[in-house]
This record gives sequence, C-alpha cells and structure tokens, in this order.
Amino acid sequence: MHKIVIHGGKPLKGEVEISGSKNSALPCLFATLLTDEESVLNNVPDLVDIDTTCSLLTTLGKTIERKGSTVFVKPGKKLQSEAPYDLVRKMRASALVLGPLLARCGVTRASLPGGCAIGLRPIDIHIDGFKTLGATTTLVNGMVEIKATELKGNKYKLKFQSVGATENLLMAASLATGDTILQNVAREPEIVDLANLLIKMGAKISGMGSSTIHITGVERLYRAEHTIIPDRIETATYLIATAMTQGNVVLRKTEPQHIECILQFLVKAGIKLKVNHSSIHCRATRKFKPVSVVTGPYPKFPTDVQAQWMALMALAAGKSYITEKIFESRHLHAAELCRMGAKIQSRSNQFIIEGVDRLQGAHVMVSDLRAGAALVLAGLAARGKTVIHRIYHLDRGYENLELKLKQLGANIERID
Ligand code: UD1
Repeated sequence: MHKIVIHGGKPLKGEVEISGSKNSALPCLFATLLTDEESVLNNVPDLVDIDTTCSLLTTLGKTIERKGSTVFVKPGKKLQSEAPYDLVRKMRASALVLGPLLARCGVTRASLPGGCAIGLRPIDIHIDGFKTLGATTTLVNGMVEIKATELKGNKYKLKFQSVGATENLLMAASLATGDTILQNVAREPEIVDLANLLIKMGAKISGMGSSTIHITGVERLYRAEHTIIPDRIETATYLIATAMTQGNVVLRKTEPQHIECILQFLVKAGIKLKVNHSSIHCRATRKFKPVSVVTGPYPKFPTDVQAQWMALMALAAGKSYITEKIFESRHLHAAELCRMGAKIQSRSNQFIIEGVDRLQGAHVMVSDLRAGAALVLAGLAARGKTVIHRIYHLDRGYENLELKLKQLGANIERID
C-alpha cells in the first residue's frame, strides 16, 4: 500500500488552481441517467470516486468518454435498473442512482450502502421521500427494491436537510407527473449546481439554494453541457494549509462565495485574506487565534472541514472547541493528531483543543477522506518526518494532491 511522506516545516508559497467539486460532479454524473441523450460535463476532477461513478454508469448502460477534465456520457445499451453491490459498496454516493433509475425504469434495486468510519449514514430520508412520490419499497437480502408504476408529484418535508436525499428527490421529481414541493431541503452549492444542470436538461425547478424547492415534472430530459463548480472543500483545505505553514498562496479558479463561513472564521483567527471574484490570496505570518466552530448544514460550518480546522486549531495560541453536529463518529483524526503532539480531548461530539507551539512528525493512519486531509496539513506544519498510511482515502477526494503541494514548495512524496 502507498504512503505519503512529508518533511514538514516549509511555508507554502505560490499559486494553486482549485479543481472541480467532487460532491457536485458525482450527483451531476448520476443525473445523466435521466436522459437518453448525450451529457457533457466540464471541470470534472480526476478522482477515484469519479472513476467508480463512471464504472457504475457504464454497467448501467452508458458509454463514457473522458478528455482531460471533460466527461462525455453517451447513450449505450438499454438502461439497467440494478446497481451491482461491488460498485455500490465502494462509495456511499452510489445511493444517488436510486432517484434517476426509479424515474426512468419504474423500478430500481441497489445494495443498501453500509456505514463508514464517520457514522451509520442511513438512507431512510431518501426512501421516505420516494414513498411520498408514490413508490413502494421492499428489502431483500440487503438489497432495497423501489418500485413505482408512476411517480406523482407531492409535498414532502425532509426530517433533516440531507444533501444526498435532496439530490435524489430532486432528480426523481424532475420526471414525475405534476408538482413536487420539497421542504427543509439542503441548501449546499452542490444542490444548486445539480439543479442548474437539470434545468439545462429541460427540468422545471425553482427555489434551489433556499430551504424549499419546487419542481414541475416533465416527460423527458435532453442533451446538456455543464461546467462543475469549484471544490469549496479543497479550497478550504488549501487555505488552512497556507495558514498552518505561515505561507503566502493565491488560490485560483475558486468560488469565494461558497465558503463565506470559512473565510469569516479564518479572518477571526487572524489570517490575512484578499478575496477577488474567483481567487483568494491567503497570507499567514504570525500565530493564529483560537476560534471555536460548530458544524452544521450549509451555510453553517461544513462537517467536511471539521478535521482540517482541528489540525489548524492544534497550533492556535490558546483553547478552542469544535462541535460535530452532522456525523456521530467523525473523530478518529483527533487521536492521530495527538500522536503528532496535539492536545485534544473529546467528550461525545465535542473536542477541546489546547493549541501547542509545534507538532512533531509521526506515523499516522487515515480513517476517512477529510481526516486524511487534516493529517497532511499537520504533516506540512510539523517538525520532522510524517508518514501517512492508508492514503487511498485521499485519492477519493483530492486531485493531484502531492503535485499541487509540491508546486507550492512542500517536501511531500508518495512511496510504496
Ligand atoms: C454529503 C457529502 C459529504 C458531506 C455530507 C454532509 C457528497 C457525495 N457527500 O454526504 O461529503 O459530509 O453531505 O455535508 O455530496 N442521514 C440520515 N438519513 C438519511 C440521510 C442522511 O439519517 O436518509 C444523516 C446522515 O447519517 C448524516 C446526516 O444525515 O448524519 C447528513 O447526511 P447527508 O447530508 O445525507 O450526507 P451525504 O449526502 O451522505
């Protein structure tokens, strides 16, 4: 298994281009199942999760071509309604096949996605929503079968603003008959991006980005070309890397509006930011202040930046608190950061972080994608050598991670 080795302590300097958003590209790729015509997606990042999604789409009948960061999804064989376990188990986002396949085939079967290191992650809200649109569900040998002779528009209030459930219901309702009103939906920029793609395909959607979305079902969807938004989590990760290494970096091709909350917290911590239309210049020249955060659905502080923020606060001048409100067990990175000299205590879903002057390089283990990012950040800032194990998690979500960091002057390499 590959490992990442970092010799820390070098300030990051220069320019970095932010890639397309993983969490937007995935639902947009699944949305191509809603049409028999070609879909063209630009700015798709080159990641393992994207490969898995493309394999899943191919198995379901599509033909995929990739040219650089553009993915062409073309009609291939007859659309299959069953998502194979081998691909579904690799990636939780594969639950997003359910909405499109139900709408197109009238029936879909997929293995229930299992839990993962950060929590149980059930899909009950997705399923409740499909039922409100007229579907019936049965569970057979770990496979969920969802059927509907006709999906009928309805009113549905999500019990929690689930990102995946909002996306699945948005896709299914686009081809239902009549009007659907989804209440208490997720408001993430990735939801807006998916809705914008669906609208280009001919869907009638309004209200995306607010907590109520209105969809008027249409009979079919058509060819569309769409450019995926920049990755706001990757942006936040590079900003924090710059701050932790006392660096000076310009992040290009990003969308500052999507991370206003993070930018405010970074400024509170004393990090200097110059924000332009699509770039952010970040400079950190002194020790930063402790800033406590509570994660929550957009526009609150993203759970996907909780681990990286913990790495930052491990070096702050004083005590801060992090409260994780989205996932029940997103905490395994805390123990690994402590192996590097961080002082972190946890009480249920709250962490108390006492900033230290220095982190020390160590052997550490990645438990999930964002935990991996936090350990890379800690390694970049630490004194000495850090060896990061189980880095396959990082390949799921950070395009050209070592290359981008090397170009910023980091001493980082991947070894066998
Ligand atoms: C998406 C993101 C992930 C991010 C998360 C929260 C993608 C591919 N992944 O995941 O990076 O961390 O949003 O911002 O976009 N829940 C239920 N029942 C459900 C659905 C969710 O109880 O039917 C719970 C989950 O267990 C979790 C919380 O709701 O505790 C949030 O989950 P959700 O917003 O659905 O996250 P994902 O779409 O899986």
